[in-house]
Amino acid sequence: MTRRGFIKLSGITAIALSGCSGDYLGVSDFESKPFSSALSIPPELKGTLVNGKKLYKLNAQDGLSHFFENITTPTRGLNGALLGPTIRVDDGDEVDFEVTNSLNEPLALHWHGMHLPAKMDGNAHQEIASKQKWTSSFTINQKACTNWYHPHTHKKTAQHVYQGMAGFIIINDKESDAIDLPKTYGVDDIPIVIQDRSFNDDGTLFYSAGSGMGMSSMRGMLGDVIIVNGVVNPYLEVPNKEVRLRILNGSNARFYTLKLNNNKSFKQIASDNALLESSVEMSEVKLTTAERAEIVIDFTNDAGKEFILSDIDAGFDILKIKVSKNATSTTKTPSKLIDLSSVIADKTQAVKTRVFELNMRQMRFTINGKLFDKDRIDETINVDEVEIWEIKNLSNMVHNFHMHATHFHIIQRSDREVPLNERGLKDTVFVPPKESVKVVLVMRDYTDSKSPYMYHCHILEHENAGMMGQFVVV
Ligand code: C2O
Ligand code: CU
Ligand code: CU
Repeated sequence: MTRRGFIKLSGITAIALSGCSGDYLGVSDFESKPFSSALSIPPELKGTLVNGKKLYKLNAQDGLSHFFENITTPTRGLNGALLGPTIRVDDGDEVDFEVTNSLNEPLALHWHGMHLPAKMDGNAHQEIASKQKWTSSFTINQKACTNWYHPHTHKKTAQHVYQGMAGFIIINDKESDAIDLPKTYGVDDIPIVIQDRSFNDDGTLFYSAGSGMGMSSMRGMLGDVIIVNGVVNPYLEVPNKEVRLRILNGSNARFYTLKLNNNKSFKQIASDNALLESSVEMSEVKLTTAERAEIVIDFTNDAGKEFILSDIDAGFDILKIKVSKNATSTTKTPSKLIDLSSVIADKTQAVKTRVFELNMRQMRFTINGKLFDKDRIDETINVDEVEIWEIKNLSNMVHNFHMHATHFHIIQRSDREVPLNERGLKDTVFVPPKESVKVVLVMRDYTDSKSPYMYHCHILEHENAGMMGQFVVV
């Protein structure tokens, strides 16, 4: 048994530590007073118009971050030392995302949740050599939602994300603009990325891919410190009105079930790739890695109050929300939001069902018995053909399943009825041990027999280890 470090954040964190698995080697014991730092809001990157297209520049770089007082941690970010700016786009925009790789090693930067041509996907086939540039050009062609970007470097995705590279992509469209939702960025419309990290005594990030270290570390890298938008246990001051949180689980491996104290409920208004048809009243929301949930919390009658958002799975406190500002406007989120019937594939039209078996054999994470091979196309999809994908988790371990460029609709879960908040458009779905999930999907464009997209478990250590396959659209 290795020495288990102890982070003196709060009582609840200590409880969390004893409950979570993973071997922590040389973890530090930095002191941090909970909720003493303000949540940082990533700056917006709105793009500059060049020849009718919007140009967005991102520079992947090394930097230094300060998670704890007087401690310096080397990290990586986009246009800064940690994380990256929030890319804002509108449906219909022609965009150029220009990525400069200032790191001393190759990097791929993937646009998670974006519906785009495979060559523009930023997956391992579009790696950018050190000191080189790559531009992803496409037209935004999807519903308003909260997406994100993160590294997708061959066999290095997990490390690169862990080092700090990730950011939001927020898509707006006319339909969502017309709905009376909170939309003032940083005021009542707040992006929240939740991640976990561990630290060595010298302040550097502790990372273990966990391979060959027994069952607990096969689960993936689980950190013992929660960072939210790059800040340890932050607080957020909000006005006494409806507040929208765009929550992303940007962790490598940890899943969260998020809940507010005092049983304060909220409405979920969006899943990964679109608003829900109707808002769903919730008291907690589960997010596996890479999943997003947009929620609206009504603080209208809570002036002066404080709430704590915590993870009830491991007992971590995530964020303190202080209702300490006077609202200067109001919003009234309606219960009926949008109509998804034109974008959800009709399951009665399905021409085939593909089965994907997630498994672990001889310590190898596989999909349909295979490890990832960059030179192998696993599935060929015909454009415009509706398909059902059945994802079966044959293992005893949790996994999820993400597919690139495609937004699916969950039609069946073996473990329970499909919950209301999962009945929209998604790109990542939780598949509990020994359970299965059926989704319906259709790819309506971007045929290219040479350039594959990926599907994989979004526990990044599993993806790195080969739990990933490739498909083309023809
Ligand atoms: Cu979020 Cu293949 O990735
Ligand atoms: Cu993706
Ligand atoms: Cu997995």
